[in-house]
Amino acid sequence: MIKAKDLVKDFGLRRAVNGVSFEVEKGTVLGFLGPNGAGKTTTIRMVAGFLPPTEGSILVKGIDVARDPVAAQKSIGYMPETTPLYEDMTVSGFLRFLAEVRGFRGTERNNRVDYAIERCFLQPVRNQTVDTLSKGYRQRTCLAQTLLHDPDILLLDEPTEGLDPNQKQVVREMIKEMAAERVVMLSTHVLEEVEAICTRAIIISAGKVVADDTPAALKERSSKYNAVTLSAEGKEIVPTLEKLPNIGKVQSLENGKIVAFPKTGKSIAADILGAAQRHKWKVSDIKVDEGRLDDVFRQITTTEDTKKKEVA
Ligand SMILES: Nc1ncnc2c1ncn2[C@@H]1O[C@H](COP(=O)(O)OP(=O)(O)OP(=O)(O)O)[C@@H](O)[C@H]1O
Ligand SMILES: [Mg+2]
Repeated sequence: MIKAKDLVKDFGLRRAVNGVSFEVEKGTVLGFLGPNGAGKTTTIRMVAGFLPPTEGSILVKGIDVARDPVAAQKSIGYMPETTPLYEDMTVSGFLRFLAEVRGFRGTERNNRVDYAIERCFLQPVRNQTVDTLSKGYRQRTCLAQTLLHDPDILLLDEPTEGLDPNQKQVVREMIKEMAAERVVMLSTHVLEEVEAICTRAIIISAGKVVADDTPAALKERSSKYNAVTLSAEGKEIVPTLEKLPNIGKVQSLENGKIVAFPKTGKSIAADILGAAQRHKWKVSDIKVDEGRLDDVFRQITTTEDTKKKEVA
C-alpha cells in the first residue's frame, strides 16, 4: 500500500529526513515515534503528497506520489498536525464543503458526510459551529474529514494530541475500528498509544529510522525486560543471586526490595525461585518486568549529544 524508499528532505542546509525507507501492508497500524524534530511530520507530509522529497520515492498503491499527487491523494486521508478548520461553519457544513471540494454532489455528498459524522460520533454537535467545539470534538471533526472519500490509507499526525484521557481512549477506539479495512500510519509521542493500537512501530531519530518492529518485540529490547523484583527475607540473598549464571546485575532498593537483571534478556524467575527454595528464603512478593517502551525509546533516541547535556 505504501512503499517509501530512501526518502531525504532538506530545508536549506538542514537535513530533516535522512534516508528513510519503509513498506506498509493492509491491516497495519503503524506508529511513527520519535523525539521533537525527528522528522515525523516531514515524512508524513511527503507520503501525503504535500511536500516533494529532495531525494527518494514514494509509491502509494503503485502510484508515484511526487509525479501524480492528485491521483495518490484519492487513496489517502490526511490529518495534519494542525488541521485548518473554518471556525464559523457548522460541523456538517464544514464536512459538506470538503466533500464538495472532493467532487461529491447531492445525495452522494450527503451520504458521505453522514457516514463520516457517524463514524466519528459527531451527531451531538453536527449543527454546532466549529469555533464552539471542545478540543475532543474538534479533533474528531479533523478525523471525520479524512473519511469523506473512504480512502484506503489514513495518515494521522498526532491524532490524540492534547486530549483528555477519556477522549484519547475514544479516538483510539475509532482509529482501531477504521484500521480494520485500511492502512493507518500515525505519529504520536504517547507510547501507551503505540502499545494500545499499533501493530508495528517505527522509531525515527534525527531523520533516520532507528527501529522498526512490533511494540512487543521493541519492549524486549528494554534493559528492564525480564528483570525480577523480589521481596524476600533470608541470608546472603544478593551475593547468592549474583552468582547465578543467567543473572547480571543485582540491586538492593531503598524499600528493601531486590532487583535482579538477566544477562541476556532470558527469563530468570525460575532460577530465582529455585535459589529461594534451596536457601530457604521467605519470598513474599515477586514480579517479572515485561519491559517498557519508554525505556526503549530513551535508550534508542538518546544521542551522545543529549546524554552530555543531561550530565551537564
Ligand atoms: N518548512 C520547514 N522549513 C524549515 N525547516 C523545517 C520545515 N519543516 C520542518 N523543518 C525542520 O525539520 C526538522 C523535522 O521537523 P518535523 O516537523 O518533521 O519533526 P517532528 O518529528 O514532526 O517533530 P514533533 O514531534 O515536534 O512534531 C525540524 O528540525 C524542523 O525544524
Ligand atoms: Mg510533528
